[in-house]
Amino acid sequence: LGAAVRPAHAQIPPDIAHAADYERHAIHHVEAQAWQHIQGGSDQGLTLAHNRAAFDQLRLLPQPLAQLQQAHTRCTLLGQPLHCPLLLAPVAYQQLVHPAGELATIQAAMALQTGMVVSTLSSHTLEAIAATADQATQELGQGAPRWFQLYLQPDRQHSLQLVRRAEAAGYTALVWTVDASIKRSGFPLPPGVEAANLRGMPSTQHTSALQGPILFGTPLARQAPTWDDLRWLRDQTRLPLVVKGILSAAQAQQAVALGADALIVSNHGGRVLDGVVSPLEVLPAIAQAVGPTVPLLLDSGVRHGTDVVKALALGAHAVLIGRPQLHALATAGMLGVAHLLHLLRAELELAMAQLGCASVEAITPQVLWQPAASK
Ligand code: FNR
Repeated sequence: LGAAVRPAHAQIPPDIAHAADYERHAIHHVEAQAWQHIQGGSDQGLTLAHNRAAFDQLRLLPQPLAQLQQAHTRCTLLGQPLHCPLLLAPVAYQQLVHPAGELATIQAAMALQTGMVVSTLSSHTLEAIAATADQATQELGQGAPRWFQLYLQPDRQHSLQLVRRAEAAGYTALVWTVDASIKRSGFPLPPGVEAANLRGMPSTQHTSALQGPILFGTPLARQAPTWDDLRWLRDQTRLPLVVKGILSAAQAQQAVALGADALIVSNHGGRVLDGVVSPLEVLPAIAQAVGPTVPLLLDSGVRHGTDVVKALALGAHAVLIGRPQLHALATAGMLGVAHLLHLLRAELELAMAQLGCASVEAITPQVLWQPAASK
């Protein structure tokens, strides 16, 4: 039997110097089964490892002596101002790692002016999370965009209810995740943790475990969303629509043609199909295919400020982080998430300064070392 799970610290542990340090601490604050669920990649974990390798193999090229007097990290996505091109990715069931769950995460996000995408599978209701964000924004006199991530439900009326609730609660974009409607998930939720938004709806397909290898012919395969659902969803709401889980230029063009306002290039953190290409590898082709006017976000493997720079250099407008927010939440609650976001921003600013970039627009492919081009 492992050691007892520790509650979150009331203070930030003194030995955390980088955002990535939270992972080392978090393991002591999360039940073993939940830890496995959070950390794991699908099957052999090839894609999980590959996501990191794709970042690590890129080399940066510093530009000393640049003018940095007016330097800043501000940017705009879908007309919404961001302090920095970094958002919190939708991550389900945050009460698995801390009793305050998403309420703590969104307080930290608002305090650090960081956008947050709230999952359909949040353990607090989307309304409670929105109310917490509103209150934090009012108290702090500052905030950030909050978007709602939608998993389509087998019954369109239920999907529509979620959209209307998100609109009513003041979410400013809808993120439709398309890459995880068919996936294995055998993780049994512990007592006290539930999909708070889906009370009263039948249990959804993406959470129900496949009992064996048979998929075709089952309701899971029959009810899986298709491109027609994008057409339908586009007609249902005036909120900006972001499609999450795009991995090719052709998919990107199709999504935009059907009304997507922005795309998230993602392989779901290596949690769905193992052996999948990494978002960073396909990003340049996607950026070229959709052109500069379609906001491109990227996630899967972002762990450091230099990763943000690498993604932006290859064509992303912003990135999202998934697991790290749970690591920080488990370790030190709201304070941990706020500190994590602060560290990532500090790392990003330091990298930009050393690369001679006074704004995020200045982050171009030239910050990457290219052997053939270097003299
Ligand atoms: C996720 N992700 C996810 N995505 C989504 O659209 N809806 C969701 O409810 C969830 N839930 C979820 C739970 C857990 C435990 C993890 C780790 C991830 C995927 C998430 O939004 C994001 O794509 C990845 O986490 C990004 O990869 P990194 O940053 O974790 O490497």
